Amino acid sequence: MTAANPSAPFAQALDFTGRTVLVTGGGVGIGRAIAEAFAAACARLIIAEIDPANADAVEAAIPGARVIRCDVRQRGVGRLLADRIAAETGKLDVLVNNVGHFLHAQPFSTLTDAQMDEIVDVNLGQLLRITSALLPLLRKAAPGSSIINVTSIEAHRGIPGCSVYAAGKWGVTGFTKSLALELAPEGIRVNDIAPETTDTPQLALDYVIPAENRTHEERWIPLGRFGQPADCAGAALYLASPLAAWVTGTALHVDGGALAAAGWYRTPQGEWTNTPLISGNGIVIPGAAG
Ligand SMILES: NC(=O)c1ccc[n+]([C@@H]2O[C@H](COP(=O)([O-])OP(=O)(O)OC[C@H]3O[C@@H](n4cnc5c(N)ncnc54)[C@H](O)[C@@H]3O)[C@@H](O)[C@H]2O)c1
Repeated sequence: MTAANPSAPFAQALDFTGRTVLVTGGGVGIGRAIAEAFAAACARLIIAEIDPANADAVEAAIPGARVIRCDVRQRGVGRLLADRIAAETGKLDVLVNNVGHFLHAQPFSTLTDAQMDEIVDVNLGQLLRITSALLPLLRKAAPGSSIINVTSIEAHRGIPGCSVYAAGKWGVTGFTKSLALELAPEGIRVNDIAPETTDTPQLALDYVIPAENRTHEERWIPLGRFGQPADCAGAALYLASPLAAWVTGTALHVDGGALAAAGWYRTPQGEWTNTPLISGNGIVIPGAAG
């Protein structure tokens, strides 16, 4: 199977008319922005959402969206989603595995076995099961269908106090690369979106970064600000579209340049330093140094 050629006019590449898109956790935050973007691009949208209030809100906000109230961590939910989508559209063009959470920001030595299992399952285990269950429907839409996994910039560097979360997200990175190879002959692409800190209910900036430190944003992030959910939505549209027809097994770092900067920061004078002079922290993880 040869990957689709992006010779179609670029203007039409972001038209998802007739294409079915499933977004897990599409009620708020990054998933919601991705859902809104696909809806604006005329996709037939299905959202899997656990929170009743979030489900009601997104259903009201996106006319035509089909919201399935469920917990993607539960065994059998992948099958349920596949059955519903099969009955409605018979195929799935785009699977966006967006659900994930750091859950417990604390030193590794203080995590219980149950907490570790919980973190790995919400970030990696459920994603494997959902992908497995939906793969037959992605095959029905191949060639040209694709999987987009929302990982994290922490899947490409270390993060103190969230080592198991990082392990789960790095696991998704490995899964993405490996599955991309398996599915390439069928014309199904698999990619990641790896966001840096993005303003969502899970990581509301007003909460995690003290107001007095918000003025340092442009010193921490090369492009001068933390992320907004719409930043990831643009990446998702691109990765799912024919514009990315020759892109598989990779990650888009949606991070304002943070990973490129690694440990480099700007001084108040606008110079670069790897020995930051700022007192206090941005995101404070209690006890992470212990
Ligand atoms: N916000 C950030 O700064 C950031 C940074 C890096 C990576 N990420 C990743 O981006 C993804 C989305 O993050 P967010 O900040 O938008 O999250 P969020 O917690 O703000 O929103 C997640 C949505 O998913 C729903 N959800 C949660 N668990 C579910 C389940 N088991 N079944 C179905 N629905 C469920 C929630 O109700 C909510 O609507 C996650 O994978 C997260 O790890 C976020």
